[in-house]
Amino acid sequence: MILRAFEKKDRDALRQIACNTAFLGLPYQLFIDDKEILADALTVYFTDYEPESCFVAEENEKIVGYLIGTKNAQKMNGIFKQKIFPQLFKKTLLSGIIFQKNTFIFLRNLLQSLVKGEFLAPDFSLKYPALLHINIAQDFRGQKIGERLINHYLNFLKENNISAVHLGTMSENAKEFFQKCGFMILFQGHRSYLKNHLKKNASYYILGRAV
Ligand SMILES: CC(C)(COP(=O)(O)OP(=O)(O)OC[C@H]1O[C@@H](n2cnc3c(N)ncnc32)[C@H](O)[C@@H]1OP(=O)(O)O)[C@@H](O)C(=O)NCCC(=O)NCCS
Repeated sequence: MILRAFEKKDRDALRQIACNTAFLGLPYQLFIDDKEILADALTVYFTDYEPESCFVAEENEKIVGYLIGTKNAQKMNGIFKQKIFPQLFKKTLLSGIIFQKNTFIFLRNLLQSLVKGEFLAPDFSLKYPALLHINIAQDFRGQKIGERLINHYLNFLKENNISAVHLGTMSENAKEFFQKCGFMILFQGHRSYLKNHLKKNASYYILGRAV
């Protein structure tokens, strides 16, 4: 297994893993009727606007995991609001998926979460400027690939004089993994928009660590 910098040819494989792991292991088809829109929402900033901060794990010429990040979460949020979100909004309306059952219910639940204030959280991007998302394909978890990708990324941030990094996760398992990797919990909340399928609210954690 090798770790290496992301290349354009990895884009489809990375997007597939992102969709497979987007909803705490539940199939993405339960929530969104268009995989490309989901993949754009999850990954397009990183792969298309800041590919130099993305890394993949490859085994036998197959992408089995990735870490996508940004050195500057504030800049990322600006580009997401100004460029990516309007495009996603337009695509969602024009493709008609908003009127398909699963997407409609998911977006309605997401909106309810938003209105209830479940997305309110302190902004950690000044103290912890970098951000990351990491996902390992199911069959390759527990083989230290995640830990190696995190260490690789921390070295990359250090070389770029970035002082600290943060991330958000709804997964209890991932929270424990990040704590093992030296991250501290900075914030804990909950989110209810997956309740129909999880049968309970999900916790939401923001974790961070110095580089
Ligand atoms: C969470 C994830 C990135 C961890 O990667 P991984 O390659 O499976 O983990 P590693 O093998 O590198 O584990 C490193 C350490 O974390 C621990 N760890 C990993 N997954 C864990 C879990 N689910 N619960 C508790 N500890 C865990 C390991 O036991 C290991 O500790 P050790 O050194 O004491 O043995 C990976 O399992 C994954 O992609 N999960 C699904 C998607 C996800 O939750 N992504 C993160 C959301 S931002």
